[in-house]
Amino acid sequence: MSEFCPITGFDHLEFYVGNAKQAAQFYAQGFGFINTAYRGLETGYRKTASYVMEQGETRLLLSTALSPENMIAQSVLKHGDGIAVIALEVPDAVSAYREATRRGARGAIPPTEERDEQGLFRSAAIHAYGEILIKFVERKNYQGVFAPGFQLREKANNQGVGLTHIDHVVGNVELGAMDKWAEFFAEMMDFKLLVHFDEQTIATEYSALASKVMQDRTGKIKLPINEPATGKGKSQIQEYLDYNCGAGIQHVALATNNIIQTVSQLKDLGVEFLDIPLTYYENLESRVGKINEPIAQLAELGILVDRDRDGYLLQIFTQPVEDRPTLFFEVIQRCGSQGFGEGNFKALFKAIEREQIGRGNL
Ligand code: FE2
Repeated sequence: MSEFCPITGFDHLEFYVGNAKQAAQFYAQGFGFINTAYRGLETGYRKTASYVMEQGETRLLLSTALSPENMIAQSVLKHGDGIAVIALEVPDAVSAYREATRRGARGAIPPTEERDEQGLFRSAAIHAYGEILIKFVERKNYQGVFAPGFQLREKANNQGVGLTHIDHVVGNVELGAMDKWAEFFAEMMDFKLLVHFDEQTIATEYSALASKVMQDRTGKIKLPINEPATGKGKSQIQEYLDYNCGAGIQHVALATNNIIQTVSQLKDLGVEFLDIPLTYYENLESRVGKINEPIAQLAELGILVDRDRDGYLLQIFTQPVEDRPTLFFEVIQRCGSQGFGEGNFKALFKAIEREQIGRGNL
């Protein structure tokens, strides 16, 4: 069967936030993004204000409502600040939408054409888990800044802190809903199951979760889906679901080619990461074999290492970036490995559980 939903890559992730002006400062000063485009009152747009933030190939769109009845305000009231839209660039937005809805996806935004002197911009969106939208963006006939209505701010020529692109975007769904959403991506969007981690793989004494990693045909789009599993305490996934008031996006992994440099810079800029106990680094080399990076430096920064048959990877996780314990970021450097750091799950979850205890949620 021919591919019915070809995808070029991630286009952007749209955040709904309470104050996009301040969020733009946070991602600029904390994470090295630059504001490349803007739409709002000053550009003649009266409903919302949106800031396009770029670094490497990664694009974040930060949007806020300018009135309480706007649906972004409603979303922020319920979920807090977070990612609301996963936008994928496709060669044909109309056909992606038609194919997905014909297979049973619920339409959210019917195919829409916007035109200005820079060309034609087409988009459409379907509903996914929680209140997340999957947006299909077709920009092959559009030469303007981001999308019609947006004005250029700064040219994206900085390398920031070395974050190159989006590696994967992870969703948390309710207990028992993981299989349904894995099937959704398979049936509506032609994704394949890359790997399944059951709750035995991902369990500590206190909490557990299960995860299915769904991937598009090109392998560029990886969307793991987690569900909570029962343990002695509250699963970190359940904590997320409670505070997010339902399913949503748990973390975004951003890739770098030099994690030591990137994480050193992020720490200097004030980004807070999960604390990893020094015991993790004892006998690390006997667990993961020879790696190019000095282990003392990894230990100092709290970077985790995992190896599979294809190579190894380095990763680190930030603290949640809002007051609610919901969305956080991962920084990842792949040195051959195409895994997700499954060898680190236990160490990582123990670190998360310490944080949960600190929040009174375990
Ligand atoms: Fe991840």
